Amino acid sequence: MASTRTRLAISSSSLTAPSNITWHPSLSRRERNQLRGQRGLTIWLTGLSASGKSTVATALEQHLLHLGRAAYRLDGDNVRFGLNKDLGFSEKDRNENIRRISEVAKLFADSSTVAITSFISPYRADRDLARQLHAATDADDEPIPFVEVFVDVPLAVAEQRDPKGLYKKARAGEIKDFTGISAPYEEPASPEIRIKTHENSVEECVAQITKWLADEGYVKLE
Ligand SMILES: Nc1ncnc2c1ncn2[C@@H]1O[C@H](COP(=O)(O)OP(=O)(O)OP(=O)(O)O)[C@@H](O)[C@H]1O
Ligand SMILES: [Mg+2]
Repeated sequence: MASTRTRLAISSSSLTAPSNITWHPSLSRRERNQLRGQRGLTIWLTGLSASGKSTVATALEQHLLHLGRAAYRLDGDNVRFGLNKDLGFSEKDRNENIRRISEVAKLFADSSTVAITSFISPYRADRDLARQLHAATDADDEPIPFVEVFVDVPLAVAEQRDPKGLYKKARAGEIKDFTGISAPYEEPASPEIRIKTHENSVEECVAQITKWLADEGYVKLE
C-alpha cells in the first residue's frame, strides 16, 4: 500500500511533482485546527457574471470576520491584478486561473482559514479539479472540506443587472468568449449549496450558507 506521504504527493498533484523535491511535513491539519480553534475549509462560489458571487462572498467574509472567525476572500477580478495578471480568458488561461486559485484557496484553508472564492469557474472539470485537490489527505487522513456554492440566477436577470456593462459589450461582439453569451456555463450537478440571488436578499443568502456550515459542524457561529 502507498504510504501517506506518497498518497499526498499523488493526490495533491494532478500535476506531476517535479523531481528532486521533497515534501516537508509540519503539524497535521487536525492539530493546526485545534490550536487555532477553527476548521479550515474552502467555500467555492460559482455562477454567471453578475449572479452575485462577489457581493455574497464579501458579505459572507465580513459576517464571519465579525464573528471572530478567520476568513479570506479570493475574488475573480482581484487576483487578475496580481497573481494571475499574466492570464487572459482563453480556455487554457481560464483553466490555469482556476488551478492557481484552487491551490491558493487550499493553502488558506490549510492554515485553518475559511477561504471564500468567487470566480465564474464555468467548467465542471475545473471545479472538479479544485475539489480533487482539496480531497488530498494528510498524515491524519484529514481532507480539507470543499463546499461548492452554486449562485443560481437566470441569465436574463444577470444580463439585466449587468453592473460592469459586460453583457452589453458581449452582445455587441466587443468581448468574445463571454460566459452565458458566447461561451458555456456548465451548471454544477450536485453543489453542496444552491443560492438564488433573484429570490433572496444578500443577507438571506449569507444566512443560508452560514446555517449550512454550522449544521455541518464546520463553523461555530457563537
Ligand atoms: N441577493 C443578491 N445577492 C447578490 N447580489 C445581488 C443580489 N440582489 C441584487 N444583487 C446585485 O447583483 C449584482 C451582482 O454583481 P457581482 O459583482 O456580485 O456579481 P459576480 O457574480 O461577482 O460577477 P462577476 O463574475 O462579473 O465578477 C450586484 O450589482 C448586486 O448588488
Ligand atoms: Mg465578481
